[in-house]
Formats: sequence, structure tokens, C-alpha cells
Amino acid sequence: MKRLEENEEIYHLLFHQSPIGVFIFNSRLVITECNERFLAMIQSRREQIIGLDMNTLYDKRTLPSMLDAIAGKLGIYEGPHRAGEKAPETWVYLRCAPLFDRIDNVKGGVAIAEDITERKLLEFQLQNSLSRMRDYSARVVQAGEKERARIAREIHDSLGQSLTCFKMELEWLAGRMANPDHGQRIQTISEMVDQTIDSVRKICTELRPSVLEELGLSAAVEWLAKDIQKRTGIIIEVDCEEIYLIPDQATTVFRIVQEALTNICRHARATEAVIFLFAEDNMLRLEISDNGIGISENMISMYSLGLMGMRERAILWNGSIKIKGRPGRGTNISAIIPIAEMTGQGE
Ligand SMILES: Nc1ncnc2c1ncn2[C@@H]1O[C@H](COP(=O)(O)OP(=O)(O)OP(=O)(O)O)[C@@H](O)[C@H]1O
Ligand SMILES: [Mg+2]
Repeated sequence: MKRLEENEEIYHLLFHQSPIGVFIFNSRLVITECNERFLAMIQSRREQIIGLDMNTLYDKRTLPSMLDAIAGKLGIYEGPHRAGEKAPETWVYLRCAPLFDRIDNVKGGVAIAEDITERKLLEFQLQNSLSRMRDYSARVVQAGEKERARIAREIHDSLGQSLTCFKMELEWLAGRMANPDHGQRIQTISEMVDQTIDSVRKICTELRPSVLEELGLSAAVEWLAKDIQKRTGIIIEVDCEEIYLIPDQATTVFRIVQEALTNICRHARATEAVIFLFAEDNMLRLEISDNGIGISENMISMYSLGLMGMRERAILWNGSIKIKGRPGRGTNISAIIPIAEMTGQGE
């Protein structure tokens, strides 16, 4: 007898002092029992709740989870709930399990209910700040690209033009020098001007790859790979499909390739690299691998600018980037980016 009393006390404590709302309903969805926490949650009194037919609830969105319990299954509802027309909307998490009688027939259900409004609010706020941050970083990336294009134009138009005039004047002068020594000197200066024109052209191309506009993405990637191979001796194999992208998106992909290849030259100690670029199901797939030392996990998770820039560029078009390093066996970077429609974002 004492044991029974003890058990009853434990049950009473568990049920009524549980920090989670609990209620029990019969097979006709009438509430037969509930705990204090549930009453506090819905700001109601016991006499209003016991005997309540849940078919008559104002908001019926929670009903299917209870019907699941009556059908002998586990029912779960997570979503908004409104107690009455004028009541504020709250978010609830409801888990309903069937209750069986002695011959295993479902006689009702037990539900645990949690008010998750605050958690949801925090989640929304977090989502909101994340999307604002993405927006902001997308704008920074775009603004940087525009600024680089402006600087490239300025350098090309002012410095490039002046150097060309300078060279023409020198050639004119060289032909008129009586002293061959002076003529030779001017010839040397003219060659230096040539080299400077080349450097200016290179700076402009790096700032704004005109090959991208003239030849398209895959040719631009091939050109970049060849240029790097010539300068560094790293054998770069390029397997690029011709993909037509809107200019801003093509620039994004080109910049990702550029950063990945620059990293290979600077950090990988690789002898070979491979670039794959192809389109599949309206998705652009880009893969860049090298056979170098392999990027470490630490470096991948660090917020270093180059890698972060790559990620942000992919996110800008709702894409993503995965970076994998295998010690002593190289690094693999793969990006998946939805191909933007001609009227899409970023134009
Ligand atoms: N292909 C690679 N192989 C090995 N290590 C790499 C490779 N790419 C990047 N890393 C490592 O990851 C680090 C971060 O790269 P990240 O591009 O972000 O910065 P960074 O190249 O050092 O500087 P920057 O801001 O100029 O790009 C590098 O410093 C390097 O240690
Ligand atoms: Mg880098």
C-alpha cells in the first residue's frame, strides 16, 4: 500500500511539476487531464480545459498531430498557433503519442507541448541578420569589382595613351639623332617604354580581365591557366565547357579560379593542377585541384580573406564552395553555383 502511495506521489510530481506542458485526451479528442505548465502556457484555467473538445478549437493546425496519435502513430506539429481570433500568435512544438488500453486498443493520446515562440523569434532574427550580412558582403564584392573596372579604365585611357604617345615621340627623335650613341640611348628608353606598356596592360588585365568579355569564360580561364603555367612552370590542365553566363556571374567565376590558382602558386608547392568547368541541370560546377602539400583544416576554418572572398562570391549567386585538403596529396576546391537567368540578380 505504501509503495502505491509513493508511486502516486512520484507520478503527481512528474506530471504536475514538469517544466513541459502535458495533456491527455480521449479517442474523441476531448481533453481529460492536463498539468499546471500546460495551463500556464495557454493562459487558461483547469475548468475551461478539462472536457474541452479539440475539434472545436479556433486554430485547427495542431489537430492532425493528435489524430495521428489516435491512429496509433506518433504525431508531431511544430508551427504557429492562435488560441482565439484576437489572441496573439505563438509558436508551439507538440508531440502526441497514442495511449493504449489493456487489450491494446487506442484509448486516446498524451501530448507534450512546448512554447517555442522565443526560440523561433531568435531564429528569425538570426536568419535576418545572416541574410543582411550576405546582402552587405555581396554589395561589397560588386562594388569592388566596379571600382577595379573603373581603375582599369583610368589606367588604360590615361597612362596607356600617354605611354604610346611617348613612344612615338621617342621613335621620331631616335631617327633624327646625329650622334649614333644618342640614338642608341633613345632606343633603350623606347624599349623601356615598351616594357612599361606591357606592365600597364598586365595590370589592367588583372584588374579587369578583358579576355572575359572578348572571348567568354572558358577561353579566359584557359588564357589565365596558360599565363600562370608560363610564369611558374606548374602544369595546368584545363577542361572547360563553353558556358554562357551573364557578365557579372562570369566575372565571379573567373575571380574564384583566379584566387584558387594564385593560392596554388603561392602556397601549394604543386607541380600540377587541374581545372574542370561544366554545366549540369542549370548548375555550374567548378573544380580546381592541385597535387601540392594540401591545405590544412585550420586554414579552411580560418576566416582568411582569400578563401572568404571565394565563399562570398559563390554565396552571392546562391552557390556554395567546398574546400578539401589531403596532407601531402593536394587540395581540391569545388564550387556549385546556380546559373543565373539573363534577367537575374547581379546585373
Ligand atoms: N592550394 C593550396 N594548397 C595549400 N595551402 C593552401 C592552398 N590554398 C590556400 N592555402 C592555405 O590557406 C591559407 C589561406 O588562403 P587565403 O587565400 O585565404 O589567404 P592568402 O592566400 O594567404 O592571402 P590572400 O588574402 O592574399 O589570398 C593560405 O595562407 C595557405 O596557408
Ligand atoms: Mg589567397
